Amino acid sequence: MTRAPLGGFFITFEGGEGAGKSSQVKRLADHLRHLGAHVTLTREPGGSPGAERLRELLLSGAVRDFGPAAEAMIFSAARIDHLDHTIRPALARGEVVICDRFIDSTRAYQGASGQIEPAFLDMLERIAIGPKRPHLTLILDLPPHIGIARANLRRGADKIDRFESEALSFHEHLRQTFRAIAQAEPDRCCLIDASATEAEVAASIWSKITPHLPAMGLGAQAQTMEPFA
Ligand SMILES: Nc1ncnc2c1ncn2[C@@H]1O[C@H](COP(=O)(O)OP(=O)(O)O)[C@@H](O)[C@H]1O
Ligand SMILES: [Mg+2]
Repeated sequence: MTRAPLGGFFITFEGGEGAGKSSQVKRLADHLRHLGAHVTLTREPGGSPGAERLRELLLSGAVRDFGPAAEAMIFSAARIDHLDHTIRPALARGEVVICDRFIDSTRAYQGASGQIEPAFLDMLERIAIGPKRPHLTLILDLPPHIGIARANLRRGADKIDRFESEALSFHEHLRQTFRAIAQAEPDRCCLIDASATEAEVAASIWSKITPHLPAMGLGAQAQTMEPFA
């Protein structure tokens, strides 16, 4: 597996609903910017104008009626646009790209239907991203009932989305898939206990980031700074 895409450094965050991904990507981006890194913070589905239009369709549930294979293909179409217009250009500029969800969410969510051949999902992944993978994937691990409770609090009166509305057993299956990915690809993935406070989770994420600071063009001074005061 080829791992270093162009220059730059590519970090993805994965995990179930309410695990803390969006909170932590923002904290990490702020912190790395504070240390002088050029950071592109992005998300999936979406992350480019074309892919954001597909995001609306995907999260509204409008695509669900076409079946799991078609839904997986539209996620992949969005990913291709995102890579072409946001991720690859930022990496080519030597930036740190931090993405809130990426390929592992497709493996877990689209795989969870049980109605798609794993070989079909593998093929879609290769078509969308080729042989390269993120340098580092942080998988936020949390019992789903806690994540769902957090997501419900966050959402307030907003409409529940296509995946939040799935049964608890679906979310438990996702968690097991994410854990299996972390175990199968230990060079790329780190499993992070996301049940602690937001600051504690940020500190354990930072401990996984520091060995990579030189690859992000950040020096020894950055490595010794106190994280997330
Ligand atoms: N470690 C944590 N402990 C308690 N609440 C948290 C923690 N991390 C995030 N939250 C809160 O839980 C909700 C979901 O967090 P969010 O970052 O949006 O999760 P995700 O993007 O993984 O769905 C938000 O309201 C957020 O403020
Ligand atoms: Mg989020």
